[in-house]
Amino acid sequence: MRGILEKIKKTGIIPVVTIDDAACALPLAKALIDGGIPCAEVTFRTAEGEKALKIIKEAYPDIILGAGTVLTPEQAKKAKDAGASFAVSPGFNPKVVDWCLANDLPIIPGCITPTEMERAIERGFEAVKFFPAEQAGGVNFIKAVSEPYPMLNFVATGGIGPHNLEDYLSFPKVIACGGSWLVKPELLNAGRYDEITRLCKEAVEGIRI
Ligand code: 3PG
Repeated sequence: MRGILEKIKKTGIIPVVTIDDAACALPLAKALIDGGIPCAEVTFRTAEGEKALKIIKEAYPDIILGAGTVLTPEQAKKAKDAGASFAVSPGFNPKVVDWCLANDLPIIPGCITPTEMERAIERGFEAVKFFPAEQAGGVNFIKAVSEPYPMLNFVATGGIGPHNLEDYLSFPKVIACGGSWLVKPELLNAGRYDEITRLCKEAVEGIRI
């Protein structure tokens, strides 16, 4: 778990990707890598997600590849079999979390309440997903819960983009931010990979300042 968290922290940004057609997977992965973000969370919100994970993993074995919106142990198994290095879930589902722990698939489970965070701490988690970040209280909420839970780190997603990325990442407990702003469906569907690369570069440059 710690190894993948370190890689995620180094990248700092996780593009959340929902793919309607797995044929996009390869050019998309290349666009992200060219933009300086060798990382993707491919969601299970579409049937093509699993196929896209396999394609990306085969072509770019070193990419930091996660499966997102993992809602059931069955999806967690599919994610692992497809080659995902980690899973992400929007909420804290004990069945999913326990499957991942038992099967060595690192998972970043969603937590927005202190109760959920304590469940995660109890199971030894060092990082959780804070989603939907902006709607749930933003970085100030994370700062507040970091007082009682200094052992927790956060991957914030939901409502994050160039306008507030730095606000989150400048707080040390936020190891990364995720979001769909880098790979909007309209860009993907129109094959505008150059624009995806440009958005990635913009995000990377923004956090280096
Ligand atoms: C996620 O699954 O992390 C979110 O859908 C990302 O939220 P966003 O679309 O507001 O970036």
